[in-house]
Amino acid sequence: MFEANYHAWSTTPGSSRWRSPSNIALVKYWGKTGFQIPANPSISFTLDACATDTRLHWQARKGAVGSLELYLDGKRNEKFEVKVNKFLAAIQPQLPLLTDLDLVLETSNSFPHSSGIASSASGMSALALALCTLEAQLTEQTMTQENFLQKASFLARIGSGSACRSVYGGLVSWGQHATLPGASDLYGTPYRGETHAVFHSLRDAVLLVHAGEKSVSSTVGHDLMHKNPFATRRFEVAHENIDQLLPLLATGDVHGFGELVEREALMLHALMMTSQPYFLLFKPESVAVIEKIWAFRKQTGLPVYFTLDAGANVHLIYFGADHEAVIAFIESELKSLLSEKGYICDSIGQGPIEIA
Ligand code: PMV
Repeated sequence: MFEANYHAWSTTPGSSRWRSPSNIALVKYWGKTGFQIPANPSISFTLDACATDTRLHWQARKGAVGSLELYLDGKRNEKFEVKVNKFLAAIQPQLPLLTDLDLVLETSNSFPHSSGIASSASGMSALALALCTLEAQLTEQTMTQENFLQKASFLARIGSGSACRSVYGGLVSWGQHATLPGASDLYGTPYRGETHAVFHSLRDAVLLVHAGEKSVSSTVGHDLMHKNPFATRRFEVAHENIDQLLPLLATGDVHGFGELVEREALMLHALMMTSQPYFLLFKPESVAVIEKIWAFRKQTGLPVYFTLDAGANVHLIYFGADHEAVIAFIESELKSLLSEKGYICDSIGQGPIEIA
């Protein structure tokens, strides 16, 4: 669908730089079919502070095939080179000009190293956008902004499913769904439905419970859904949850929204616990944090909820008006349960930006 439609390209040296944020899913993608096709639709909001800054340099290849060097925080990183080389090979049909180029990638994340925050969504979306800029420059193709972003999202999806949602700001969906017009399995789509103003002030305090690598990767977790006894029902529930979410977004029902978001997070982890082999990504501190959040909500009545991604960290979801109260709560009640990395205050963001 996004195969290149040009026949000639130049190899003039150049560079492109993008800053792309991470995202956090409200209704989760967990399980895939075919080649990076989600087993169910998902919807997320794009963050602001947690982002990857990537500069891609290119020049005509010197050897028989194109090469790649990757620098993370100024240091060559061969582990990521292997990952990115695999990604470049997978997207080669969409970007045939890659075979004629040597690439150097300089990348850094705004969030701390080994904090347990996955950089795949921000990293892969930043790289996909830089590659689309490369293509635009070397082929002098004229593409609408909409097509450019759609292609970047399509490519990002091949690198990491959830990365396709990071190409856009605000609320973003991915995966076909009856009541999400234009939504696709192949790329993310900005959510255009009615959204109450309260959701413009969505906040996410990322509580870093456990620093370091998780025991089971998302790739393995997605794969285990093929044999999960609850998979069929789960995929239906994801559709139902999106249908339930849309009116909550429209009316500004923050408690209905938060309850649905927590239900989704716990279902994601229940799927991990019921996979064969089963696994747990929670830590005792994750559960302790969740219980404190529930107690705080009961005591104050504030719309303070949580979600989880595929890891032990807890994302505290709240709204701008409650920022001070939530920070005071984190400082007094939660901080002792967190790793030495502490927490990151983030919020719903505008999406990636190209840096001149
Ligand atoms: O994009 P992946 O393969 O890292 O999987 C992401 C899975 C979740 O973060 C758990 C859910 C989601 O929709 O982002």
